[in-house]
Amino acid sequence: MYVPAPTLQGSLVSASRHARFVLAPRLEPSVSSSFAAETRRRRTFAIISHPDAGKTTLTEKLLLFSGAIQIAGSVKARKASRHATSDWMEIEKQRGISVASSVMQMSYRGHVVNLLDTPGHKDFSEDTYRVLTAVDSALMVIDAANGVESQTRRLIEVCRQRDTPIITFVNKMDREVREPLDILDEVERELGMPCCPITWPVGQGKSFGGIINLRTQSMTVFEAGSERRPEEFETIPLTEKDRLRARFGQAFDDAVEGMELAQGASAAWDHEAFLAGKLTPVFFGSGVNNFGVMEVLDAVVDMSPPPGPRKSTLIVNRQPQEKTVQPEDPGFSGVVFKVQANMDANHRDRIAFVRIASGRYTPGMKLKVQRTAKELRPTSVVTFMSQRREAVDEAYAGDIVGFTTHGGVQLGDTITDGASLQFTGLPFFAPEMFMTVVLKNPLRTKQLQQGLMQLGEEGAIQVFKPEAGGNMLLGAVGQLQFEVVQHRLATEYDCEVRLEGCQYTGARWITADTPQELREFENAYPLRMARDAADTLAYLCTSPYDVRLAQERFPKIHFHPLREHAGLALQTAG
Ligand code: G4P
Repeated sequence: MYVPAPTLQGSLVSASRHARFVLAPRLEPSVSSSFAAETRRRRTFAIISHPDAGKTTLTEKLLLFSGAIQIAGSVKARKASRHATSDWMEIEKQRGISVASSVMQMSYRGHVVNLLDTPGHKDFSEDTYRVLTAVDSALMVIDAANGVESQTRRLIEVCRQRDTPIITFVNKMDREVREPLDILDEVERELGMPCCPITWPVGQGKSFGGIINLRTQSMTVFEAGSERRPEEFETIPLTEKDRLRARFGQAFDDAVEGMELAQGASAAWDHEAFLAGKLTPVFFGSGVNNFGVMEVLDAVVDMSPPPGPRKSTLIVNRQPQEKTVQPEDPGFSGVVFKVQANMDANHRDRIAFVRIASGRYTPGMKLKVQRTAKELRPTSVVTFMSQRREAVDEAYAGDIVGFTTHGGVQLGDTITDGASLQFTGLPFFAPEMFMTVVLKNPLRTKQLQQGLMQLGEEGAIQVFKPEAGGNMLLGAVGQLQFEVVQHRLATEYDCEVRLEGCQYTGARWITADTPQELREFENAYPLRMARDAADTLAYLCTSPYDVRLAQERFPKIHFHPLREHAGLALQTAG
């Protein structure tokens, strides 16, 4: 809570406050090609926000000012062209939401910055969750008029579970918005962690004067317009207080007072606490006016962490053992956190997005999918420089590479150049909504099966095939997933389907200690057994009591509400 401290009317923030910001050392362009040096200059982060808070606008500005794109408007244009080129994005357009998520890489101040976009709509929270497993930090964009909104709240929960460091950007200060102290108070309550303001607004809306930067002890003066480059904004040192007062009047004094109140009540900057996901630095600005944007990009580079170690399971003498993979380990390893078909209507391909966890990727490398022990033979391997796909020369831990495949790769798959290990932590949640798929034209059965298999592998929806036969079942966590899948089946696989309600309300993935126990269970509930897209056995239920009863009857059977990954993780779970 922000408890008002004694008013320091008219005084300026003392320069000693500057000492609060002890940041990570700046890294200059690496001359060493060693893995460790390359890894240290990577920053991989996701932007999270409620729809309409300004995520797309900010993304575009970050790309523009890092030099990754030349012309403003291309991310927005991409949003628009996606609508034009890919029919299923029509749904996105109609509802003004971002369904798909994408990856963009840029260089900034000698660093390689990987930015992962996330879908804003709650019905795609599973996809977002998986994207968040692939990043080392998150940038949370908040609309200053609306504060922390429902979808942001969910995303925060996910970050909190993983202790992901969060940088907060309070956007749209050029509008009539809420008081900054009020916003900080809300962020603090919602995040359950202290805020540490790094910039502070002077006025808002029509009287928005600019931001005070507590790091540089200066004020950057706001001017509306989307043409200006960030370095062109006028900057006035806080020591010139008479000049600032004369120019901004009461708004300046109020800002200083508010800032001091916030500082008095909030925690001092603590880099370790930020890295542990226990404190968030807060920035104010206006994305559409290019204002306060560079401060955020600098914070991503200076504050947020490089790739860290990742937990995995290693198979030694056929026995699973826990292993922590370090980013600078020489062996290549990575995990598929997203699979997307038909990203570009001109390509009609499927891309497996792999977050590199260790080692270096170079073209021509022999790689194996650990789940199947099969060699990965991609038709192309790309990075996502400025939203274009470009062939990869080399990539290191923290980078995202896209393997174009014709199948054989699933969400959660681990890919290595040899080591038999499996990364853990990429979750699938038991669906809470089910629909039966009824094909309108029975001659399209094969296409339907292929479509459902691919969409299931992509994680767009969960597909269950009842063991006893009959229509396929779709399981989702959000209603919109059904609509997207129905639309995609029609446009991408030429399968018109009808979706009908069914009695199921949940599913649990099933494991047992012995095959005998599993058989007995299957025999007891033949009509309730189904297999998902990863061929994992599941028990379909009609109420929570259902599971409880089955559990009482079969105490040795394990019912999993969450599946980590096909194969390894489940085999060992029992
Ligand atoms: P999203 O990706 O989070 O959904 O948000 P997006 O960037 O698309 O922004 C949502 C709307 O908010 C857009 O207006 C955008 O121009 C506006 N916006 C973003 N940042 C600011 C800001 O700092 N100040 C103000 N005043 N508005 C901002 P739109 O009318 O929906 O689209 P457009 O026609 O402007 O592109």
